[in-house]
Amino acid sequence: MQQAEFKNIVISGASSGIGAELAIQLAGAGVYLCLLGRDETRLLEIAQMCQANGAETSTHIIDVRNDQEMKDLLLALDEKHAFDLVIASAGVGRQYEDTDFIRLTTEINVFGVLNMVEPLLPKLKERQSGQVAVLSSLAGFRTFGRPAGYSASKAWVRLYGEALRGQYAKYGVGVSVVCPGFVKTPMVQNAPKNMSVMPVEEAAGKIIAGLKRNKGRIIFPWHQAFFIWLISVLPTTWLEKYFIKKMDER
Ligand SMILES: NC(=O)c1ccc[n+]([C@@H]2O[C@H](COP(=O)([O-])OP(=O)(O)OC[C@H]3O[C@@H](n4cnc5c(N)ncnc54)[C@H](OP(=O)(O)O)[C@@H]3O)[C@@H](O)[C@H]2O)c1
Repeated sequence: MQQAEFKNIVISGASSGIGAELAIQLAGAGVYLCLLGRDETRLLEIAQMCQANGAETSTHIIDVRNDQEMKDLLLALDEKHAFDLVIASAGVGRQYEDTDFIRLTTEINVFGVLNMVEPLLPKLKERQSGQVAVLSSLAGFRTFGRPAGYSASKAWVRLYGEALRGQYAKYGVGVSVVCPGFVKTPMVQNAPKNMSVMPVEEAAGKIIAGLKRNKGRIIFPWHQAFFIWLISVLPTTWLEKYFIKKMDER
């Protein structure tokens, strides 16, 4: 299968974790990276690492919740760089959520993804090429008790991405839904102690390999993915007895 090479890339959430590592690994000679984030110091550090790998970069301080600013920025950048890869990685999440945090999570993880992807879809369609990646999660398949807002936002992203993939395939535009388990980033510093956590370098490598092949669903690690599949198909009543009790013990 022919593998895509990405030359003009825009990434939200490029100042930390998965977005930052994707930027670093995608950087190379002849590559232009537009890096979006809120923390200027970290964003500039990532840009320097990308430049050290041979890429050209620009950095943009922006909140993904601001739809009009996002649209104006993305369209202006696309005019110059004609993106062939759009990665929506900005997101928040934590295990214990109150109502305000669930609202914030929805604004960033749902509307932030919409604000990142929607302005660029007509451009990719016009050019009949390009790849979109949206960051969902294994948490977007099945959850027991918590975190409600995060899991719901990631289910939305998964279904949104899958629907877009169906809509845009005929225009030569690929859409990949990325569903990681735990990846070692600042977001999961409070992950349950017994959980296996994948190094961010390994996760970014898997994501890039999947994007190059336009995989519809990039899901890992396999043992957590298998577990999620299993609890999605087993009878709910049986699972609830076991897992809700377990959750309450944490
Ligand atoms: N780590 C995991 O185990 C895991 C597993 C499954 C899915 N994911 C998903 O992967 C994505 C990246 O997560 P991560 O682990 O890399 O987290 P992270 O290290 O905490 O990075 C989150 C990124 O999102 C940006 N961001 C947050 N709110 C924003 C806002 N309102 N406007 C603009 N940017 C904002 C942050 O920017 P600033 O720092 O500059 O504010 C940061 O660059 C998320 O969508 C997450 O849900 C992560």
